[in-house]
Amino acid sequence: MTAPLLEVRNLSKTFGGLKAVSEVSFTMNKGEILALLGPNGAGKTTAFNMIAGFLQPTEGQILFEGRDITGGKPWDLCREGIARTFQLSRPFSDLTVLENLMVGGFARSSDIGLIRSRAAEIAEFLGMGRQIDIEVQHLTAFDRRKLELGRALSTRPTLLLMDEVVAGATPAEAQEMVALVRKIRDTGVSILIVEHVMKVIMALSERVIVMESGRLIADGKPHDVVAQPDVLKAYFGEQYVATRA
Ligand SMILES: Nc1ncnc2c1ncn2[C@@H]1O[C@H](COP(=O)(O)OP(=O)(O)OP(=O)(O)O)[C@@H](O)[C@H]1O
Ligand SMILES: [Mg+2]
Repeated sequence: MTAPLLEVRNLSKTFGGLKAVSEVSFTMNKGEILALLGPNGAGKTTAFNMIAGFLQPTEGQILFEGRDITGGKPWDLCREGIARTFQLSRPFSDLTVLENLMVGGFARSSDIGLIRSRAAEIAEFLGMGRQIDIEVQHLTAFDRRKLELGRALSTRPTLLLMDEVVAGATPAEAQEMVALVRKIRDTGVSILIVEHVMKVIMALSERVIVMESGRLIADGKPHDVVAQPDVLKAYFGEQYVATRA
């Protein structure tokens, strides 16, 4: 049997007295789009930060393609094939779109010509081919989101962690993002996505996991999971679930 792409075992992170992530375990297979749901403060970004090496776990293990990567640094994990987008994107505003897309390329190569042509390919892939010479500060919020995604893609990941890339998008933009995420998966990239917009989750993922107060409370098919009392309670409160019963 081949190892899962990602295996998270009993992962915990404590900040002072707060257990932001508490004994979370799940696996993810190659080619999967797995959605991570949960109300504000559930620990989703903290879990991402540990998987991508931005935070050291307090306890637990992370295995990537069967290898233990627990405690690895972001630049090492990036070379292993893990990339992430940030919930708050921080592009280099006075650089152009192309230049921003070149930055990640240096993780893979030192050949500037090659890095430039790959960056241009990514811009085309994002539908931003005509914007490559624009300084990022002049882009719309949504184009900046797409660029954030492109910056992650420029490191050529096999696992992409996406943290709320649809936040603040119009319905048309959300639809465009859904199409883009599918297109990325079709190139062989597996995707773990944090998203609050249910329509986006339903359109993209065959499986979802749900966190609440640091714990994993559900793992299954989207339609089944959103009907579970625990999940409804996490989102809408005890009273809502009681009135439905
Ligand atoms: N560096 C930190 N130091 C202290 N507490 C933190 C730190 N990072 C996160 N937390 C706390 O850990 C908990 C989980 O935060 P996290 O950002 O992971 O939640 P989230 O599920 O991503 O929420 P959101 O949907 O709002 O993005 C919160 O209570 C948060 O305040
Ligand atoms: Mg978050």
